[in-house]
Amino acid sequence: MRKSLLSRIPTALLLLAAVLLLSSCGWSMWDSPMTTVRPKSEFGRMTHSIFMLISWWTFGIGIAVEALLLWACFRFREKPGAAIPKQVHGHTLLEVSWTVVFALILLIFAIPTIPVIFKTQEAPAATALRVDVSGRQWWWEFKYPDLKVVTANELHLPAGQVVSFNLHAPDVIHSLWMPQLGGKRDVIPGRVNRITLTPDVPGEYPGQCAEYCGMSHANMRFRVIVHDKAGFEQWVAAQQRPPVQPADALAQKGQELFAQSACVGCHTITGVSGGVLGPNLTHFGSRKTMGANLMASTPENVAKWIENPGHLKPGALMPDLGMRGEQPKALAAYLLSLK
Ligand code: CUA
Repeated sequence: MRKSLLSRIPTALLLLAAVLLLSSCGWSMWDSPMTTVRPKSEFGRMTHSIFMLISWWTFGIGIAVEALLLWACFRFREKPGAAIPKQVHGHTLLEVSWTVVFALILLIFAIPTIPVIFKTQEAPAATALRVDVSGRQWWWEFKYPDLKVVTANELHLPAGQVVSFNLHAPDVIHSLWMPQLGGKRDVIPGRVNRITLTPDVPGEYPGQCAEYCGMSHANMRFRVIVHDKAGFEQWVAAQQRPPVQPADALAQKGQELFAQSACVGCHTITGVSGGVLGPNLTHFGSRKTMGANLMASTPENVAKWIENPGHLKPGALMPDLGMRGEQPKALAAYLLSLK
């Protein structure tokens, strides 16, 4: 007996190590950028409160069931020489009570859940800021129709203001997910899904496509920047300004190159081109990252991207335009001058 217990210690230790290893994300849950347990919007807080209610109840039920199970295992374990215990089939009182008790627990979950379902499906207030979102392979377009602003992969929002998102998918199914703001909703071709929420803590939050949509699904990210009211107004004013003429010679060369090349067929730069297949580049230089939050918008990265987009982002729909040598550098200088 003693020997067999001792021989199980290595297995037990191995199992414990596996549990610790497999749950390694557990401790960073609160601080990770993709956390869902520190909501920064009223939508997030509503769904989070239900999540916590269900979690605590299921945690308690789990402990109670395990304790009963262990108790039964020890209490009724086979003893040497003991007779077979009394055999029973069915117990009406027990069966009725566990049906009733669990129905009551489900009712406890249902009472706060139903109003939240209705609340999160409510039509937005007339004063809501409207944002038309297009999920495309593999980037996000954010249009503010009332403000006449179009941007890509960077969603700017004012804190304390109701925002109503209309979700469009020109190609395949995507899913808009902003874990800290609590919003996740499918983006489906042929229909317009909606999500309404009020971000309330200024800051920068990551977003990610949450529905497998092809080769660069994992690279379909975006940044959400929640400003205070004045900060948002400032951002809007800057986005509404037409692009300024580049001052330095390299950027001017890039401007000429842009106007003469296939770039104009896919990208819009206000006053220069009107393509709509790729991201609007009117204020490209104001964005911190590029390629749907793939990397920082540095002159080196932008030039590398122009030389060979598919090399940096598998499956990228932007073709290699054969720009080499000084050409990508000039284009990068021009695009980054568009603040
Ligand atoms: Cu878009 Cu995954």
